[in-house]
Amino acid sequence: MEPAPSHADPSPPPRHVAIIMDGNGRWAKARGLPRSAGHKRGAERVRRTVEAARELGIAYLTLYAFSSENWKRPLGEVTDLMGLLRLYLRNEIAHLNKNGVRLRVIGDRGRLGRDIISLIDHAESATGGNTALTLNLALSYGGRHELVEAARLLAAEVAAGRMEPADIDEAAVAARLYTAGMPDPDLVIRTSGEKRISNFLLWQSAYAELVFLDVLWPEFGREHLEAAVQDFHRRERRYGASAG
Ligand code: FPP
Repeated sequence: MEPAPSHADPSPPPRHVAIIMDGNGRWAKARGLPRSAGHKRGAERVRRTVEAARELGIAYLTLYAFSSENWKRPLGEVTDLMGLLRLYLRNEIAHLNKNGVRLRVIGDRGRLGRDIISLIDHAESATGGNTALTLNLALSYGGRHELVEAARLLAAEVAAGRMEPADIDEAAVAARLYTAGMPDPDLVIRTSGEKRISNFLLWQSAYAELVFLDVLWPEFGREHLEAAVQDFHRRERRYGASAG
């Protein structure tokens, strides 16, 4: 007998989804509000996105919260963004624990304030035992810098005589990135209609599907994440057909 047709999507969810959250400024400008209002609203969308990712069965979610280039923005805007990040790291721990979310921060901690570093340490250890979803917040993150740091670490190993240049392979580089031990993103989403990678997960997204959405980050919701995942599945199925 034929099995009953199922309407459920049998495709497993992408294991790792990464998002370039863009468009806070444009969202605020369109409403005659200051940029800070766009960032505030953007920070609020993060909680919903984390919940939706967990419900969709995504295991790793990486959010680009502050790039190494963002340090060049006006001081007032950097201060606003750092303030929102402090609030998030302080106030979100209970919610992350309730949802089984482990928080990790990836990026150049050397440029962050001491108080933020201690909030990060605390949030990472307070959520470290959670297993439903790993949330990577990319803070002061730049993909080229990450690769430079990995190259420095490898050069130091060689100089110390612990490694030969010929031992340096893809696994050796990957093991020295902030994302060591995590799967590469299967899907990278960028909001706001811009079609750039902007120094985000350069090594890790070598084989990722890229989805560019015409929605500004402060308007991003569960339906947009679902649409991007569906797009990802359609592309996977096409690939299966042409390769078979
Ligand atoms: C891009 O908008 C967004 C950012 C600079 C980073 C994302 C920051 C947040 C969502 C808020 C803080 C995050 C957390 C986790 C608390 P834009 O200013 O570049 O927008 P525009 O291109 O329209 O000017």
